[in-house]
Amino acid sequence: MAFRVGVLISGEGSNLQALLDQVHGRDGVEVACVASSRAGSRGLERAAAAGVETAVFARADHASRDARDAALGDWLDDRRVDLVVLAGFMEILGAPFIRRFEGRLINVHPSLLPAFPGVCAIEQALDYGVKVSGVTVHFVDEGIDTGPVVLQEAFDLPYACAVEDVERLTHEVEHRLLPRAVRLIAAGAVSRDPSNPRLVRVEGE
Ligand code: GRF
Repeated sequence: MAFRVGVLISGEGSNLQALLDQVHGRDGVEVACVASSRAGSRGLERAAAAGVETAVFARADHASRDARDAALGDWLDDRRVDLVVLAGFMEILGAPFIRRFEGRLINVHPSLLPAFPGVCAIEQALDYGVKVSGVTVHFVDEGIDTGPVVLQEAFDLPYACAVEDVERLTHEVEHRLLPRAVRLIAAGAVSRDPSNPRLVRVEGE
């Protein structure tokens, strides 16, 4: 039986595209469904072009955030997803949703966590003047970008570079790190250390 991945997006969906190109329909892994917090987002077009089912779960269409989260959770469970990937999902998910998908919910973040969590991570890193930046794929817990790290990759930052240059470098890394993380999880190569839940063991890494 296929390993089924649900992807949550808000906008461009270039990380979704990387999953569609590199993971979907290979080695028993399928992007089963894509949900966006915004109607009309480019990522929804990418999913539709790949023949993947889509839906919109906008906060404004529901009585509360918890109601939106519950409807989204039901939709994902109805599609029997094994893993939920936050790939540029620009909204906070409440604790009940996070607990519901605990251990099968990951996020890609454009910094070397724990540096620069939250929004505008690339701008934060540039303002700080760091020499090294990177990408983190992590399990999601109830904090902002605080969950256990699955994979990280660093790269050097050129002197005085523009935000757009760092965004490009970051995306290049994201587009190989996130598919790799999903492939490893689908293959059963990723496990949490029961004696220290911060520690994620990745076989073959
Ligand atoms: C990525 O940089 C990701 O790290 C962050 O949001 C951005 C989404 O980009 N969480 P895209 O929509 O996948 O192009």
